[in-house]
Amino acid sequence: MRQSELLRSLVRETRLTPKNFIYPLFVCPGEGVRHEISSMPGVFNLSIDEAVKEARESESLELGGIILFGLPEQKDEVATGAWAEDGIVQRATRAIKQEVRDLVVIGDVCLCEYMSHGHCGVVQQKSAQQKKQDTHPASASHNGGSTAAQTAVCTEYEILNDPTLEILTQTSVSLAKAGMDIIAPSDMMDGRVGAIRKGLDQAGFINTPILSYAAKFASGFYGPFREAADSAPQFGDRRSYQMDGANLREAMREIEQDIEEGADMIMVKPAMPYLDVLAEARRRFDLPLAAYQVSGEYAMLQAAIQNGWLDRDRVILESLISIRRAGASLILTYFAKDAAKLL
Ligand code: PBG
Repeated sequence: MRQSELLRSLVRETRLTPKNFIYPLFVCPGEGVRHEISSMPGVFNLSIDEAVKEARESESLELGGIILFGLPEQKDEVATGAWAEDGIVQRATRAIKQEVRDLVVIGDVCLCEYMSHGHCGVVQQKSAQQKKQDTHPASASHNGGSTAAQTAVCTEYEILNDPTLEILTQTSVSLAKAGMDIIAPSDMMDGRVGAIRKGLDQAGFINTPILSYAAKFASGFYGPFREAADSAPQFGDRRSYQMDGANLREAMREIEQDIEEGADMIMVKPAMPYLDVLAEARRRFDLPLAAYQVSGEYAMLQAAIQNGWLDRDRVILESLISIRRAGASLILTYFAKDAAKLL
């Protein structure tokens, strides 16, 4: 059954179509701007007019959709740029929606790109009393394998979960107003899907679906994205809110909670290092399942391709079919246009 492409194609169990792909775009201020990300060859910061062109091309390649990230003019401690009516993503959404009809536009909802400190939530310095409790060995031990250095950093500040929910909800409503087809929270605060659902409903957006980054792991593979979105945390890291890469059962619990709170689609992120999580999520849950082939996965493949160490066309499609085979029906990937052209 492997003797010819005709036979192989006849018995192929998994297929890719451009509709499986969601293409991420990074929108920045200015006009005519196409600034290439050094660690992500072929990926750009785009001003709104350029983003519209990319959206048009995505539409003509019949991609499933695009997902928008924003680089605001200014950052502050309440993420104003995320929810402002004239925020960069809000303006981009209006411009794209005016020009492009047959393309789903997804809004990534997170605050890290808009916060001066680069964290995904509201940050508060810890009090002296709290610090003392944190450094007590008995309370520090539940941190499991964390290093001394990490524990030291964590004693200085904390992310405030519930105040963050309010800003995330406000951001989601503002994006829906701008015309976003799907709201996709990526912040990993507890309870955000429920809060956003309630906020959207109250604002009249009862039909706007939520794609939850349900199992998002604290990953070294996000490195290049933080250059692209200018969102690296100024201190500490994201391990107090993103998941520990060692935990599959906890990932299932996170997904289950998001479904109970009203998620319409769920996501596992990153993709290639977490294919087992994806497969288990596919077995357990019946919602549409997405996976994010993240910046670091793209960067390592591109580096090898550019060195001539890997065959470009083959590894792009092989990496995507593996994610599809593991169970994802939607793949967020920087290779979306390349793969659609290859198909
Ligand atoms: C925002 C966000 C991140 C990514 C998507 N949304 C970065 C992070 O959590 O640090 C990563 C995407 C990628 O690496 O391609 N929180």
